[in-house]
Amino acid sequence: MQDSVESHYRSSGIVNRIQKALAKAGHDLKNLDPDALAGADEFHVGGRKATSLIADELDIHATDCVLDVGCGIGGASRFLARKTGAHVTGIDLTPEFVDAAIQLSKLVGMEDGVNFQQGSATGIPFEKNVFDVVTMLHVGMNVEDKLLMMSELERVCKPAGTIMIYDIIRKGTDALKYPMPWATIEKFSFPDPAAKYIEAAKASGLVLLKQVDHGKLAKKFLTSVPDELPALTLGHLMGPNFMAMRDNLALAVRDDVVSPVMMTFRAG
Ligand SMILES: C[S@@+](CC[C@H](N)C(=O)[O-])C[C@H]1O[C@@H](n2cnc3c(N)ncnc32)[C@H](O)[C@@H]1O
Repeated sequence: MQDSVESHYRSSGIVNRIQKALAKAGHDLKNLDPDALAGADEFHVGGRKATSLIADELDIHATDCVLDVGCGIGGASRFLARKTGAHVTGIDLTPEFVDAAIQLSKLVGMEDGVNFQQGSATGIPFEKNVFDVVTMLHVGMNVEDKLLMMSELERVCKPAGTIMIYDIIRKGTDALKYPMPWATIEKFSFPDPAAKYIEAAKASGLVLLKQVDHGKLAKKFLTSVPDELPALTLGHLMGPNFMAMRDNLALAVRDDVVSPVMMTFRAG
């Protein structure tokens, strides 16, 4: 039974499982393209497509310092580092994910462009005004105190820097069925309406620049069936129960109870 946020995510042997699946599909593990990891290392609705939209939206320069809060096993962090040339630091609550992020980055030869450490969105382990851009993808559903979370994102972002949040947002009031991809039970699940984020952001001194609901993308993404099973899926990260999590999310998205939304803020 889930007894903390991170116990929903943690498991041993993540990198081993990924390496085995890639080797089985014929990948050369000594010469691995970072794109080969995309099926398992982008743990958000829309996968790589959504990360690309985020990269296009953010004006990241090679000299920028980027923080990816709740980075998981580091897929989005590595993608942003590759796409922009900026150095990306990832933090995550789950130690097994942080270890996997470090090992996978070495495996694909990217250890100089990214770094990872354990840390929480509600107590970010950095000084004030360090990062030009802060991203947070599909993490807020695990954070009850949105005001503390937003004030922490604001604190570590430089003045006039950009904060991008891509979260599953509560739209309707119908009960959600569990497990969801972010929580096995309701006790650790806090999907909130966009208004709650925006209110917390405003109180933290952030200005909302843009808000985009990706419900349409989500409906397509969550119901699409690939012609052939990819070498890697989120099942390799989360285990066989992931199918039930995805199905429950697909239903909630179909019925407009929740939707993935991107919100871009400017630090004051
Ligand atoms: C659904 S996954 C998303 C991972 C990654 N952002 C991505 O899009 O691939 C949610 C992640 O948030 C992390 N997480 C949950 N609560 C957190 C918190 N308070 N601070 C930092 N990370 C957190 C989990 O450990 C998990 O890695």
